[in-house]
Amino acid sequence: MSVQGADKPITVPDLRRMKGTPQVWLTAYTTPIARLLDPHCDVLLVGDSLGMVLYGLPSTLAVSLDMMIAHGAAVVRGARRACVVVDMPFGSYQASPPQAFRNAARVLVETGAQAVKLEGGVEMAETIRFLTQRGIPVCAHIGLMPQSVNVAGGSRATGRTGDEAAKVTADAHAISDAGAFAVVVEGTLEPVAAAITAEIPIPTIGIGASAQCDGQVLVIDDVLGTFNDFVPRFVKRYAELGVEISRAAEAYAADVRARRFPGVEHTFRKTR
Ligand code: KIV
Repeated sequence: MSVQGADKPITVPDLRRMKGTPQVWLTAYTTPIARLLDPHCDVLLVGDSLGMVLYGLPSTLAVSLDMMIAHGAAVVRGARRACVVVDMPFGSYQASPPQAFRNAARVLVETGAQAVKLEGGVEMAETIRFLTQRGIPVCAHIGLMPQSVNVAGGSRATGRTGDEAAKVTADAHAISDAGAFAVVVEGTLEPVAAAITAEIPIPTIGIGASAQCDGQVLVIDDVLGTFNDFVPRFVKRYAELGVEISRAAEAYAADVRARRFPGVEHTFRKTR
């Protein structure tokens, strides 16, 4: 349960105050899914994972600002209580703080979302400070950073060596000092993520990190099991909708081919 009443919308300062209280974050990309998740979540994250989940892209790199804005606005239309946070896509904020401000302002103005999320630690601290001082709440994202897949040479959990642990810890302190209201810690060894959570004053939101994080986030399609690919270790599936969707499509196809659908009850006739 959040610190808020049942119907009162959750704000960024509410999330910041929830340090130490479990926060429930899930990704959402569309209005109907946002409506279903809203009563159960503190944050609906419009993640750039939508590139892979909805568009079949190989990574998040080709996701555009216009795509994020379209899906961000759709999620805001479905959210009543949860705070909506929208990912800044690759190339929309890394060039300079003013570039980040222009694009983050577009996201907030054109979607109605409350905050943006961007990837990076020490190197993004100046940008985070620039945005937060100008009215744009920022959630940071450290550890495994999917937009850096080409620099990292793949998607591998970090924090395994002393140097890696020191880097992700320094990133956490830098973004917290710069004014981020929360930080997603992805793909980071459990003791490192737990230590960061104990050290910094803002909520940590884990994904493939630690149960000690202040909150957890997962990609909604991983939770729902809408596809049958490889399931990473950090994902827990709560449904197998992929199986259900295949079953429904198979039953529909069989009905159409056998002329069982539409039935009398599905067609319009003169009543007199
Ligand atoms: O894009 C995304 O969905 C994310 C979450 C996995 C944290 O950044």
